[in-house]
Amino acid sequence: MTLNLTAEYKMLLALASKAQKNAHAPYSNFQVGAAIIDENAQLHASCNVENAAYPLGQCAEAGAISAMIASGSKQIKQILIASPNDDFCPPCGGCRQKIAEFADAQTEVHLATKNGQVKTVKFAELLPLAFGFET
Ligand code: THU
Repeated sequence: MTLNLTAEYKMLLALASKAQKNAHAPYSNFQVGAAIIDENAQLHASCNVENAAYPLGQCAEAGAISAMIASGSKQIKQILIASPNDDFCPPCGGCRQKIAEFADAQTEVHLATKNGQVKTVKFAELLPLAFGFET
């Protein structure tokens, strides 16, 4: 368990928690929030958005990445995922690949629980041997 109470962490947590309250998760009842700080020190947040056609639902991380890209930024410096309960909510496999597109090995991934615990890992720990083209 890493206690990380930097100013950036606090901002990420506040934004992710705010978005989490707006999650549309009537099918799973599992509300997630995500927030990113990018290479321009801009913040972006989103929540999961489910759909009656279940496979069309979108994870919180994907929404936050879309917001970052729409704003003109390209690099995830830190990303925080706010869990709705007392367990960590690590990104799903698909989201790890989506994060990989805009992250590097050193990108910090903060996993925050409802009761205030946090675990911070480097992205390389979450997706070793990630697929990617050299561009
Ligand atoms: N979910 C996320 O938004 N992020 C994750 O990292 C894991 C899962 C969402 C997808 C779905 O709406 C709900 O949580 C239950 O899986």
